[in-house]
Amino acid sequence: MDEKKYPYQQRRVRANEHIRSMLATVQLHHKDFIQPIFIDEAIALRTPIASLYDVHTDTLQSAIQQIQADIQNGIHKFLLFPIPAHKSNAKFNFSWFAQAIKMIKQTFGNTVWIAADVCLCAYTSHGHCGILNDQGNKVLNDASVKVIASYALELANAGADCIAPSDMMDGRIKAIRNILDEHQLDDVVIMSYASKFASQFYGPFRDACKSSPSLSNVLNNRKTYQISPFNLQDALQCASRDAAEGADILMVKPAIAYADIIEKVSTQNNIPVAAYHVSGEYQSIELLAQHQLLDRANGHIEVWTTLKRSGAAIIISYAARYAKKWIENIAY
Ligand code: PBG
Repeated sequence: MDEKKYPYQQRRVRANEHIRSMLATVQLHHKDFIQPIFIDEAIALRTPIASLYDVHTDTLQSAIQQIQADIQNGIHKFLLFPIPAHKSNAKFNFSWFAQAIKMIKQTFGNTVWIAADVCLCAYTSHGHCGILNDQGNKVLNDASVKVIASYALELANAGADCIAPSDMMDGRIKAIRNILDEHQLDDVVIMSYASKFASQFYGPFRDACKSSPSLSNVLNNRKTYQISPFNLQDALQCASRDAAEGADILMVKPAIAYADIIEKVSTQNNIPVAAYHVSGEYQSIELLAQHQLLDRANGHIEVWTTLKRSGAAIIISYAARYAKKWIENIAY
């Protein structure tokens, strides 16, 4: 008898769509997705975000309509971003965003799960995620944490199901957990932007939120509080520290560029990991699709499989509202 030339006949498991779908080791499900929503206090009409294809900034009214439509498409979980009308450096008015959350929760009740992004960058005139010292050359940690914790409390009191701090100050998870628990808000979840890198891929988001750090010469980037792409150890330490401080979900952000971090964070910590496929990552797929260089739905699906393979339990995507439809129609 002839000895087999090739012991493994892998092409057999790829021969048709039936066997390809049956043998899939990665399953996508729309219930794993969170849809970001931008609410702009200053606009009277829903406005397309030029740098983020098919994404809009909403008024409170249009956000409610959008959420209604998203529910019809099987999406019930949202991450809300405020774009306040007025910028300041010291006294912040968080109440309109709290009111917006209250209104959304009153409209939809527990049909929706609302996570609120908590950060100062959309509020400060300099665009940094915290409060600066008097010289304006340093982002103060503890002063920022104090404001961020009371902001989180205000949003949780308004009905937010989840607080998602994205500021990257040290100790904010503990401070937020403490203040929530002191006010009997112990059911409110904390999703920490734990391993958040100082990335190029936030460009379209900053455009939308008018939140680019704008000081010239000094502090014109976020490198003193967001993690360096060159430092794996820092990323893993932030994740385990935030878990120890009481985070319920650890986020890795950006997602595709940091799939290795998703894998490590999810295996090293015994809590779920959310992967945030950020604005620049999303838009790079959209731009390729617009130039007919890839298929939009399958481009996103392929990226989502990467995040799942890496260990993400949750995917935050600007295309979440298409997840159900696209997943139902996967071309295996
Ligand atoms: C605010 C914040 C940012 C993003 C989420 N929260 C921008 C930043 O850190 O500059 C980015 C999201 C995206 O790009 O989709 N701190």
